Amino acid sequence: MDKFVVRGGNPLLGTIKVSGAKNSALPCMAAAILTEDEVILENIPQVRDIETERRLLAAMGAEVDLGYGRAQHRTSIRCATLSDPVAKYEIVKTMRASSLVLGPLIARTGIARVAMPGGCAIGGRPIDLHIKGLEAMGATITQDHGYLEARTPNNGNSQLKGAHIVFDKITVTGTEDLLMAATLADGETIFENCAREPEVSDLAALLTAMGAKIKGAGTSTIQVHGVAKLHGARHRINPDRIEAGTFLLAGAITGGDLDVDCCNPAHLGALIAKLESCGIRLDVGTDHIRVRSGGSLKSTNISTEEYPGFPTDMQAQFMALATQSEGTTTITENIFENRFMHVQELNRMGANITVEGRTATVRGPSKLESAAVMCSDLRASASLVLAALVADGETILDRVYHLDRGYEHFEEKLRNVGAQIRRMGDVFTKK
Ligand code: UD1
Repeated sequence: MDKFVVRGGNPLLGTIKVSGAKNSALPCMAAAILTEDEVILENIPQVRDIETERRLLAAMGAEVDLGYGRAQHRTSIRCATLSDPVAKYEIVKTMRASSLVLGPLIARTGIARVAMPGGCAIGGRPIDLHIKGLEAMGATITQDHGYLEARTPNNGNSQLKGAHIVFDKITVTGTEDLLMAATLADGETIFENCAREPEVSDLAALLTAMGAKIKGAGTSTIQVHGVAKLHGARHRINPDRIEAGTFLLAGAITGGDLDVDCCNPAHLGALIAKLESCGIRLDVGTDHIRVRSGGSLKSTNISTEEYPGFPTDMQAQFMALATQSEGTTTITENIFENRFMHVQELNRMGANITVEGRTATVRGPSKLESAAVMCSDLRASASLVLAALVADGETILDRVYHLDRGYEHFEEKLRNVGAQIRRMGDVFTKK
């Protein structure tokens, strides 16, 4: 298993480029199921989750060309025939977002068989809202041997029907999954209490380019007028706002001067406001943000919320910054239970963090020291790298495969701006 070895102490200086958003790319790849034509996606990040989705689609009979090594990370997907509309457990268990194929598969083929996602390190993460929505659209869902089987009315021979669906809870992939299903349903579907994340809007832009009739994506109410058929399209994936945010924090925590390039600052409002209240200087351009931090950092409280609130996917990284801030920071995690696994590891490096229920209290600044630490999930891994960048000595991070799921060439990008970070072990193969 690969490890990172990080020697702290260097301020990050220069320009770092943000890749395409993994969380946009995953639903957009699933959307290709909805048509027999070719869908071309640009700015796809070269990360493990994308490779997992490629395997998932290929196992169903899709032709997927990931285009590794080519400019712009262009990928083409053609689902001319879906000989085996099944998302197998061996693949689903490694990536919960596999449940995103449920909606498009049933809409396209009338029958979908998808393994139930297993428990995940950051909480139970059920998919009951995806199921409830499909049932409202007329699907029959049964469960056997750890699989969900969904059929459209008339035993898989008729289309899904338009419906009025109010999400009990805001869910990002739930909104995306059902949005895809509704594009080919008979009649109009109205969704309320939808996720407003930029990734939902990115998916809607692709679906619209494929011929779908969608209004309101990016707001809490989305209206879809079902069409009989979708066609191929070409679409460029949004920049990854979480990767951009992670780099902003890397610049800030190391007291560096870093230009985070090729990002969309409009998607980073909540984070930018918090960084400014910590006393960090940000020059916000149209597609880049320069971060400068030299003096002491002030503490500020955060509370994770659905977009446009402070993202749960930035919570762990922000906690690393909070260990270097003057005073007490409280961090409340409202989206997921059990998303504080990085706390224990940060404390092993010398942080002073206590957790009560959904709130962590960070008392800073702490002088961090190197240690052997374990990555527990994707964003927790990034948090530990940030801490290691300011720790005294050489930190060894184990299980960086979590990080490889969602950050493209992370250590190379950081090394290019002055970080001392190297990988040990089997290098993640870049095909
Ligand atoms: C997506 C992101 C993930 C991010 C999360 C919240 C992708 C691939 N992943 O995950 O990086 O951390 O949004 O911004 O885009 N819930 C239910 N029933 C459901 C679905 C969700 O109760 O059927 C609950 C979850 O347990 C959680 C909350 O709703 O407490 C939000 O989860 P959701 O928005 O669905 O997260 P994901 O879409 O899985």
